[in-house]
Amino acid sequence: MESSRSTLSRIRHQLPQILPSMLLCDFGNLAQEVVRLQQAGVRILHLDIMDGVFVPNFTYGMTVVQAIRGTCDMVLDCHLMMVHPERYVEQFRAAGADVITVHQEAVNDLAGIGRAIRATGALAGVALNPDTPVETVAADLNCFDLALVMSVQPGFGGQAFRPEVLAKLGELREVAPDILLEIDGGVSTQTVARCVQAGAQLLVAGSAVFRAEDYGDAVDELSQLAHNSLVAP
Ligand code: DX5
Ligand code: ZN
Repeated sequence: MESSRSTLSRIRHQLPQILPSMLLCDFGNLAQEVVRLQQAGVRILHLDIMDGVFVPNFTYGMTVVQAIRGTCDMVLDCHLMMVHPERYVEQFRAAGADVITVHQEAVNDLAGIGRAIRATGALAGVALNPDTPVETVAADLNCFDLALVMSVQPGFGGQAFRPEVLAKLGELREVAPDILLEIDGGVSTQTVARCVQAGAQLLVAGSAVFRAEDYGDAVDELSQLAHNSLVAP
């Protein structure tokens, strides 16, 4: 299993990056989907783990993470949309997660779970729902390597982007100058530039990739728009 140090350098090697989210992919051909994405130049996969309690939807757990781990060497960015994530951190790491992100709204001891995730050797991430203010995590960000700003209410792909959350990226950067900033939900060719200009470095894209004819073209177009917006004022 890769160390958090090497995962971090792999992630930082090329920013901003598009992270396809494994929610709307063809699970009937999962291995082929993963290979297609790697061939399309994807370097990080975003895995949406949902428990049907924290969010009104249910997806998959450690076994699917393990199956994807066995199919590729991409960085696996696991987004745990679940209550009591502390019960599963070690199991997701053992399944092959490189980044484990938990929701601020789902935990009591935020610093504690950040430390527990890091102790497994994974990078620790904290996610904020659209209505959750940055103040709720500011004091504990030193226990995390990544902050995930939700630009939709978690649970489903294909929702409308909520631009009001963009300001949170700058607030997070203010509090934690070195933290990785990720945005998730409604990222498309219409919204990706604004996300990067607001400070997002990791851009999760579900429907923008999986509803496209060609994954490679979709990822390339989003990547191009993301990189171009870095230079544009
Ligand atoms: C929603 C998930 C997102 C979602 C993104 O709960 O966390 O990762 O799959 O899908 P789009 O890009 O279609 O909003
Ligand atoms: Zn997600």
